[in-house]
Amino acid sequence: MLILGVESSCDETGLALYDTEHGLLSHALHSQVEMHAEYGGVVPELASRDHIRRVLPLTEKVLKDANKILQDIDAIAYTQGPGLSGALLVGTSFAESLAFSLNIPTINVHHLEGHLLAPLLENNPPAFPFVALLVSGGHSQLMRVDGIGEYKLLGDTLDDAAGEAFDKTAKLLGLGYPGGPALSKLAQGGKSRFKLPRPLLNSGDLNFSFSGLKTAVLTLVNQHQPLDATTSADIAWEFQEAVTEILTLKCMTALRETGLDNLVVSGGVGANSKLREKLNAATKRKLCKVSYPRLEFCTDNGAMIAFAGAMRLKATQGNHNKNYSFSVRPRWDLAELKKP
Ligand code: KG4
Ligand code: ZN
Repeated sequence: MLILGVESSCDETGLALYDTEHGLLSHALHSQVEMHAEYGGVVPELASRDHIRRVLPLTEKVLKDANKILQDIDAIAYTQGPGLSGALLVGTSFAESLAFSLNIPTINVHHLEGHLLAPLLENNPPAFPFVALLVSGGHSQLMRVDGIGEYKLLGDTLDDAAGEAFDKTAKLLGLGYPGGPALSKLAQGGKSRFKLPRPLLNSGDLNFSFSGLKTAVLTLVNQHQPLDATTSADIAWEFQEAVTEILTLKCMTALRETGLDNLVVSGGVGANSKLREKLNAATKRKLCKVSYPRLEFCTDNGAMIAFAGAMRLKATQGNHNKNYSFSVRPRWDLAELKKP
């Protein structure tokens, strides 16, 4: 079966074609980063309007790249939430109306389920059950995953998400949006000089808290005005060290507590090379396996949505929704998902 995936939950329009027999055939993405950069963050109305402009040309591109036509598509999977409501509405209304015109089923996908399953798109994919670390701009969660739709929350952030902390700290250091990649680049030129706190490192549970870290950075920044390039890089180095140390330790605790030996990392922060370095070393020491999506599928994309949709469609043997009514779910808890 051939599934078209549509992602439009935030500032990236992503389209992809996934074939349940032959795997990922094509994918295309338009990032709005440049457009939002001058505002220092995502402007929801601009995001929606841009998704409208991009969704059809990108659909044509993935069809052309895979040498397919519209009539070859068997089902359309789209992100129903969580995300920005206007942005979600673009992908949702596009997917439902195209499916209606083709008389094929639709699959409404949870954006985080897409992220969570993205590592399974790679060669040698991890098998269920596994522990998943989901670290994106809006989430920092540890989960036990026993199968599609079988997600048990083990730990969550009490305040800021890891990506959000990267973004806010980057802003304090005068870096642009999105801050994660820029901060990580700056940290490469830094060294160990400052000491930031490791909130909840030894809390005995699997929860995170990153907002205090950002406040500690603010104090350092205020103490070192005017900030010179070396100091900025040293602060970035220590911030990245603190976040990646916390994430790594909690992942290892989650593996130990669940008795599992398989870790899967996904979401934008999963692209961070320091985090990968630490997780690779720690899992190797404990003879555990760690899997990541390829770098371009750490952040938002259509391939993960097509794939999550394909997994759900497979589980129901193609028996999916064909009523074409739709709504979006800007807030949607992953734990609400059920086995297909
Ligand atoms: O998963 P994603 O694309 O969007 C959400 O669903 O939130 O993640 C975006 C987040 C942003 O906060 C961005 O700063 C962060 O991931 N990010 C990174 C890196 N690349 C992206 N954070 C740290 N290091 C990176 N290399
Ligand atoms: Zn995302």
